[in-house]
Amino acid sequence: MQTNNILGIDVGASGIKGAIVDLEIGDLTTERLKLDTPQPSNTTAMAETVAELVRQIGYEGELIGCGFPAVVKKGVSHSAANIDDSWKGANIEEIFSRATGKRVLAVNDADAAGLAEMKYGKGKGLKGSVLLITIGSGLGSALFTNGHLVQNTEFGHCNLHDGIAEHYVSNLARKRHDMSWEVFGLRFNEFLEMIERTVNPDLIILGGGVSNRYELFSEWISIETEVTTAEMFNNAGIVGAAQYAFENQ
Ligand code: BGC
Repeated sequence: MQTNNILGIDVGASGIKGAIVDLEIGDLTTERLKLDTPQPSNTTAMAETVAELVRQIGYEGELIGCGFPAVVKKGVSHSAANIDDSWKGANIEEIFSRATGKRVLAVNDADAAGLAEMKYGKGKGLKGSVLLITIGSGLGSALFTNGHLVQNTEFGHCNLHDGIAEHYVSNLARKRHDMSWEVFGLRFNEFLEMIERTVNPDLIILGGGVSNRYELFSEWISIETEVTTAEMFNNAGIVGAAQYAFENQ
């Protein structure tokens, strides 16, 4: 059994972040370290970067939790939307364990963020259906019913305007198409309308890099469902990854 201090790593399409997490309080005990995601982000290059991150943090524990931007089943990546194709079918846990010499447990990145937000943030103690949406390079989702996670939902991959939603509205799409916050807000509202029609959550929590700029586009969000921002903002992914590893070791 590990102590309550576990290294959490949040692998993203543009950055790989990590810190040691105190799970008693759900907060970081070391400064958050971020290394650029290698391009191309193939399995070999990513493994080297993750190992470098662990070295730089100086982590001496044995267990690492890793949030990963893909469908993750039994440690294996089943998709590769914003990362290199070599990840399709690759065993994240084996690859990162070999590279770091530690035991790595992997979970979808949005699911990790959701786990943390439900335990320590805005979702704490909430019953009913709560949906966390992360807005970053992609659109991630984590659905909870009475506090239980339905793993690997991919609402960002639902169809919207003849393509997948995250190509129409994500932070990457905003930058690529030089969208004003008004255009971004209106598009994001369309995405939320689709979520409302199909999922009917009681609460939607926005997380990920863009969530701390919600005031820039909130005026265009007009769905009936209550929408709020994550309390843990960008640290949720790291905390939730550590929490997942601790609870599943
Ligand atoms: C991926 C999801 C991931 C999300 C956020 C999407 O492109 O398909 O698995 O959770 O990006 O990183």
